Amino acid sequence: MILRFICLAGVLMTSTFSSAADDVIRTPFGKTKEGEAVDIFTLQNSKGMKVRLITFGATIQSIEVPDNKGKMADVIVGFDTLEGFLTEHPYFGGTIGRVCNRIGNAKFSLDGKEYSLAANNGPHSLHGGKKGFDRKNWIAESIITTNDRGVRFTRTSADGEEGYPGNVRLGVTFTLTNDNALRIEYDAITDKSTPINLTNHAYFNLAGSGNGTILDHQIMINATQQTATDETLIPTGKLAPVAGTPIDFTKYGKIGARIKEIKATPVGYDHNYVLEASSKDLKAPAAVVREPNSGRVMEVYTTEPGLQFYTGNFLDGTIKGKKGATYNQYNGFCLESQHYPDSVNKKEFPSTILKPGEKFSSTTTYKFLTVAE
Ligand code: BGC
Repeated sequence: MILRFICLAGVLMTSTFSSAADDVIRTPFGKTKEGEAVDIFTLQNSKGMKVRLITFGATIQSIEVPDNKGKMADVIVGFDTLEGFLTEHPYFGGTIGRVCNRIGNAKFSLDGKEYSLAANNGPHSLHGGKKGFDRKNWIAESIITTNDRGVRFTRTSADGEEGYPGNVRLGVTFTLTNDNALRIEYDAITDKSTPINLTNHAYFNLAGSGNGTILDHQIMINATQQTATDETLIPTGKLAPVAGTPIDFTKYGKIGARIKEIKATPVGYDHNYVLEASSKDLKAPAAVVREPNSGRVMEVYTTEPGLQFYTGNFLDGTIKGKKGATYNQYNGFCLESQHYPDSVNKKEFPSTILKPGEKFSSTTTYKFLTVAE
């Protein structure tokens, strides 16, 4: 009796361990132009959901999730090969830092010193500069626990990298859970005060990557305000109510329903929403997106105060992506959790300054489910 129990426990333990271990597979994905080896990790959970991550840019390469009939599709816009990721592209799936989004006029002052950054978006700095975190090859290790599997990416951003002060030790941990959620946990420490604002720039299409536009997707964003901006998307410092405007998604609305009313060139959503306090403890979603034909639903949870909703306005058919698809305007949407844009120059916004002795941490989860037709 006792023997049988031990034996059974042994089998159970072995099978749990080996199934989790088999769920993280690391394979070579090519080399960077500098000759660094890039690897791709494939994670699979107990439901068959698959996530692929690459060390170049700590990038989400693919997410395969079922529709309401169980048919799988890859919902991430991007590339099949490393060659694609090495070209100039609009941040497909990458980890963005040291400061995501815009810094006005590519400069800021900190502790009485002025810092100048590369202006790569008109006069402004966008997404970390010329060679942000999305263009660096990260160190990676798999993490396997009884129920979950994941990858932890680490690197040190040296003092002066892209003009920012301080050596910053970074970690980004992706975990695929058995309830079809991909959790992203960021952490950082520094030896000098520095601004830090990290996000992921995945473009989603819940009908499947390369499967048309996202204009029929329905979205709800848990925000009654946005950060008002000038026409170059630099915040004025004021918060503006979304009520009565085409950017009000407090109730579900079709992304395409009022998109043409947005006054921007090119036309589309590219707005930072001020999330309601109810979403901050990860209990209420910051946003939910539904695709009516497949029934796929994505919920976004975050500890961050802001969410940039971007509808791929600049995609213009010039990029050849997965399976030879060309990506046109509105072929994907991004929901980038973050502190507000240009926070380093806006005293009235929640601070993005990390000081020596402090630990930065932030969590965002993309959870997938389906609804019946
Ligand atoms: C920004 C857009 C920008 C895009 C680049 C988004 O995060 O908000 O303005 O064009 O990234 O892919």
